[in-house]
Amino acid sequence: MNILLTGGAGYIGSHTAVALVEAGFRPIVLDNFSNSHPAVMERLARITGTTIPLERGDVLDTPWVESVLRQHRPVGVVHFAADKAVGESVAQPLKYFHHNIGGAVSLLRAMEATASEADMPAPTLVFSSSATVYGDPASVPITEDFPRSHTNPYGHTKLVVEDMLTALNAAQPNWRIATLRYFNPVGAHPSGLIGEDPADIPNNLMPYVAQVAIGRHEALSVFGDDYPTPDGTGVRDYIHVQDLAAGHVAALQTLLNKGKSFTVNLGTGRGHSVLEVVKAFERASGRPVPYRIAPRRPGDVAQCWADPTRAEALLGWKAQRTLDEMCADAWRWQQGNPNGYRP
Ligand code: WQD
Repeated sequence: MNILLTGGAGYIGSHTAVALVEAGFRPIVLDNFSNSHPAVMERLARITGTTIPLERGDVLDTPWVESVLRQHRPVGVVHFAADKAVGESVAQPLKYFHHNIGGAVSLLRAMEATASEADMPAPTLVFSSSATVYGDPASVPITEDFPRSHTNPYGHTKLVVEDMLTALNAAQPNWRIATLRYFNPVGAHPSGLIGEDPADIPNNLMPYVAQVAIGRHEALSVFGDDYPTPDGTGVRDYIHVQDLAAGHVAALQTLLNKGKSFTVNLGTGRGHSVLEVVKAFERASGRPVPYRIAPRRPGDVAQCWADPTRAEALLGWKAQRTLDEMCADAWRWQQGNPNGYRP
């Protein structure tokens, strides 16, 4: 059974491709490599022992996406292709509205245009959403019925696409749609062959800590230690990318087997502070991670972690891996690929 992965050469997409092969699916990667690297395809072949088909192009090219759908007739589509840097989205909102909302509209229109054609499977979509749609939560842990809001254009695009999917499903109930709200994906495949490959200086905590451990930066700036948290630093629900990939497989299987649309949090249900991550990374790497306390980062919230009960009940899925495993796998990837996929 073919599964089309838009943005499938990216961080979450590539790990999901491996998990899909292991679950007996045939993933097809659709990517323009605007935020990923062609070298990923060879790494995927090494891990899976099979050549994963690549459709190189832009999800915004609707007629081309239609041709890809007609050629591969996927039983499901996972929409990863989007830009995801919060800070960049504030500086370049139009780029984010164009790529993230325009890209989703293009994909959905291509799926709608081909859905009624002979031998096309029922439209089945998994959407890569984000806990960022919860804005600054009034309390933690967060359940799926919490109010949504946006504090930056990136989060706004995720919220808008979620609303588009709700309206589409109301108009066309035959669509099977899973909206997955990721918390903080970190780590890498245990082979160390694929992992997170930030384009330049990482905005996110884990890749930055890994680069401090390997000596690319002198120290980590801890954005605030005066939050109302146990040690004063920000608390987040870090989830291993392997658990996240497994969540996508479980979501697809649930859509295909039960046929009902749903929205779930994909998190561990546990929060860890910045300083806990620093200590875990020092244990995993055996390297010091020096840090300095810096001013709070605008837009950051104090605490954000999931209540994953619905995903566990609906999908039979639960995150398994610990923070120490996340750090050990992130470190193995960092050590083996100091410049990511670039030579
Ligand atoms: C985590 C914690 C920072 C860097 C963002 C997006 C979210 C998702 C994941 C796309 C916070 C602190 C960080 C640093 C630090 N992205 N920190 N020094 O902000 O929770 O979520 O990335 O889907 O949508 O909003 O993740 O890793 O940037 O920050 O102290 O150099 O680490 O203040 O408490 P965040 P993060």
